[in-house]
Amino acid sequence: MELTSAPQFLGAKTILVTGATGFLAKVFVEKLLRIQSDLKKLYLLLRASDHEAATQRMHDEIIGKDLFRVLREKWGADFESLIAEKVVAVAGDVSVANLRIENENLEKMWEEIDIIANFAGNTNFDERYDTAMEINTMGALHVLNFAKSCRSIQVFLHYQLKFKRYALADS
Ligand SMILES: NC(=O)c1ccc[n+]([C@@H]2O[C@H](COP(=O)([O-])OP(=O)(O)OC[C@H]3O[C@@H](n4cnc5c(N)ncnc54)[C@H](OP(=O)(O)O)[C@@H]3O)[C@@H](O)[C@H]2O)c1
Repeated sequence: MELTSAPQFLGAKTILVTGATGFLAKVFVEKLLRIQSDLKKLYLLLRASDHEAATQRMHDEIIGKDLFRVLREKWGADFESLIAEKVVAVAGDVSVANLRIENENLEKMWEEIDIIANFAGNTNFDERYDTAMEINTMGALHVLNFAKSCRSIQVFLHYQLKFKRYALADS
């Protein structure tokens, strides 16, 4: 595989980011947009009832945040149109097969996506076991299976916290 720089590699790529409202993914999305102006398309998977609600969440909880101030200044008057051109909010849920993405969008996404970055996860340390399992274990599997359906997938990134096993001392 020929070695290229990260920004060079990302040129003209279509990327799916899950967990986009989260702490890590938001920083990832901002940096992607800031360093790679040739990025083809960014799909952001968000938990929402439909496309409209997902788009609203994207504006309220991601693009509208102060984190995007530098990008807003860099792109100036083109900010809103470039976001509309490059960033697509998708309603979905990683705990469900095919990420609960509407059937009409699945084929198009499988055709277009080159890179998947999976940040979706339940980060409550005291979550119910079945809920944590559904999102952090089955979710990861569903995103991986989704990646296998993407015809030109090149990179699959998965972020997961390592949990230590604690031995409870007898009290
Ligand atoms: N932060 C760190 O220092 C760190 C270090 C190492 C690894 N990690 C791992 O990296 C991942 C992201 O961490 P983070 O700190 O960014 O977590 P975070 O701020 O809690 O964000 C989690 C994201 O996952 C989304 N999510 C949860 N359940 C989902 C589901 N069923 N379907 C789709 N999206 C779902 C949340 O969406 P909603 O807004 O809808 O809840 C949110 O956007 C986690 O797996 C974490 O364990 C984090």
